[in-house]
Amino acid sequence: MENCKTIMVTSCKGGVGKSTVAANLAIRLAYDGYRTLVIDCDFGVRSLDLIMGLEDEVVFDILDIIMRDIPATKAAITDRRSQNLMFIAAPYSYDDELSVADFREGIAKIKDELSPDYIIIDTPGDTGMPFRLASAVADMALVVSTYQPISIRAAERTGILLGDEGVGERRLLINCFDPDGRENPALPSLTEIIDKTSIRLIGIIPYEPMLVESQSRGEDVFTLKKTDVGTAFANVANRINGRNVPLFTDFKQFRRVPLLRKIQ
Ligand SMILES: Nc1ncnc2c1ncn2[C@@H]1O[C@H](COP(=O)(O)OP(=O)(O)OP(=O)(O)O)[C@@H](O)[C@H]1O
Ligand SMILES: [Mg+2]
Repeated sequence: MENCKTIMVTSCKGGVGKSTVAANLAIRLAYDGYRTLVIDCDFGVRSLDLIMGLEDEVVFDILDIIMRDIPATKAAITDRRSQNLMFIAAPYSYDDELSVADFREGIAKIKDELSPDYIIIDTPGDTGMPFRLASAVADMALVVSTYQPISIRAAERTGILLGDEGVGERRLLINCFDPDGRENPALPSLTEIIDKTSIRLIGIIPYEPMLVESQSRGEDVFTLKKTDVGTAFANVANRINGRNVPLFTDFKQFRRVPLLRKIQ
């Protein structure tokens, strides 16, 4: 329990890829041998069960554990891909006023019962109650941003709010990276994004046109063999585990884009 690291995936902007990141990072960590639990804290709008392809197996949710004393061992679903991977769904609706103290206690109970090495918490695209609850238990926050100026501004604001909530370790994850788009002068460069958000970069996930379709089948990015998106998640998982991995390590497609070498 003591060695468990809790990572929230966040941005106060919707649709930037938070749930995609939460699911695939958790799958990668599990494949790498870490006991990993993903918790969907997008209360009311759950979608992580769909992304993980587990929607038919959901019976209980995180509030059943915290408010209704359902054991975590009963509420957590073990993923078919790996015995190391567990999932707890978000409730469809919630009226209960959940306090930070209740949530903290619930997470402690979950750690006791499931002994995860990592807990990955997916949050909604705002800074409401789930954001504050996740911040209260997170050791680290991954702030997801795409190239859109509004998403970058949201990342900057999210970073500040995370600081206010006391989440010390904050890292930026740029999603939907497109090397052609990057050369478009209308879009900010990678360095500009890092500069504007003032958050240290942990990785870059490429834009992958096949992803939406494969996600609708409940498949993860590691089934998309011809792309770099699985490699990108593997690199992020390695960095989370303290390994020093250069930015585009093992990427097939972007290795020769000269400008990108500069920030390795
Ligand atoms: N790297 C990517 N390449 C292509 N499509 C992506 C990528 N990342 C996410 N998407 C797509 O973008 C859409 C939004 O992703 P996702 O649901 O993960 O975002 P979110 O931030 O969790 O949204 P919300 O705020 O609504 O919870 C989905 O259709 C997803 O398949
Ligand atoms: Mg989401």
